[in-house]
Amino acid sequence: MRVPSQLTRREFARAAAMSSLGAGLAIAGISSGWARKPKNTPEKSRVDGPLSLKTHAAAAGLLAGCAVVPELFDLTPASNDPYTHTVAQQASILVAENAMKWSSLRPSPTTYEFSNVDRLFGFAQLNGQQIRGHNLCWHEQLPAWFASTATKENAHSLLTQHIFNVAGRYAGRVHSWDVVNEAIHVPDGRSDGLRKSPWLGLIGPEYVEIAFATAAQADSKARLTYNDYDIELDTPEQSAKRGQVLMLIRRLHARGIPIHAVGIQSHLQANGPRAGAGLQSFIRDVATLGLEVYITELDINTHALPGSPEVQDSAVADVYRQYLGLLLPEPNVRAVLTWGISDAHTWLNQSKQLWTVRPDGARQRPLPFDENYTPTAAFFAMRDAFDAGRHLVKSSAI
Ligand code: XIL
Repeated sequence: MRVPSQLTRREFARAAAMSSLGAGLAIAGISSGWARKPKNTPEKSRVDGPLSLKTHAAAAGLLAGCAVVPELFDLTPASNDPYTHTVAQQASILVAENAMKWSSLRPSPTTYEFSNVDRLFGFAQLNGQQIRGHNLCWHEQLPAWFASTATKENAHSLLTQHIFNVAGRYAGRVHSWDVVNEAIHVPDGRSDGLRKSPWLGLIGPEYVEIAFATAAQADSKARLTYNDYDIELDTPEQSAKRGQVLMLIRRLHARGIPIHAVGIQSHLQANGPRAGAGLQSFIRDVATLGLEVYITELDINTHALPGSPEVQDSAVADVYRQYLGLLLPEPNVRAVLTWGISDAHTWLNQSKQLWTVRPDGARQRPLPFDENYTPTAAFFAMRDAFDAGRHLVKSSAI
């Protein structure tokens, strides 16, 4: 297996010092002044540079990062925007929260809208950050035109053309691609565990292999990843789903389909059961196939946890501590990304669902920075977990 290309501090400094990034950045509307700022970072967020998550993670051979919204980056040279600053300082790897999904990229069956993704790549290049692609094939966030346009006749070509055009455009610049997202759904009752998704209905179960094989052709460098949720715990439901995910990965591997990693989303609950032996042995099973593991969408939901912000913060930090303490010692776990960086922008405060809204009306605090960009207890729990992994430095190939 390839070793993840960790940026050394020298490489990071070189990237940050670059003063001109050429036409690509100009097209993306990105000025090169960002590397010189900001100057007036509030004292309370002085967890930058050597004190940052990415620096502590790098010392343990890990990438640390978060999901981002490229439209929120303030790229004007004099800006002191806390979102932009915090993402630049804390993350060595970024993933688009929505910008690389079909619904964002495909305004019509024949057109592509890449401007936000180009902006993301420009920002990452300026800050020496890697990028995860999310995602190429999913049953959700398909464009409105999809249902009326996709047929059994054209679905194969819709999928493969999309993958060629999207993964091909950014080929060589992507750390890992979530090629297929959330394909397993045990309640759908199939023996292969596959979800009854539009892709399954239109193409059949081979859509998974087609997606991976096409992604490998479009970008031979990216680590091709299968990403899923609710596979973390030892509850009967999650154990069953995790088992089906493992079977799927084994099937793909046995057939020589290019797959290099598994993404464990890790949307966890503050007061639910904790992850344990089942997930640990899953990660080890995946390692025997030579696959890496990424924690891809970590956040801690407190909708069902009564109490003050302090009570929430301490419960959330406890879950970060326990979860990363369990997973980071596994040598094939190579990246930890939270689903957002600050409580100012988290899907858990955006969607008004039973599983997100707190009865007391308070906002959730699921991430390492609060809505004022002050590091939360979760930040320090994460950083401590990275520090605890330092003696295990993941420098060797698995
Ligand atoms: C979520 C985004 O955070 C929301 O903004 C959007 O409205 C819905 O999707 N699993 C995934 C992510 O793979 O793409 C989802 O992101 C969260 C669950």
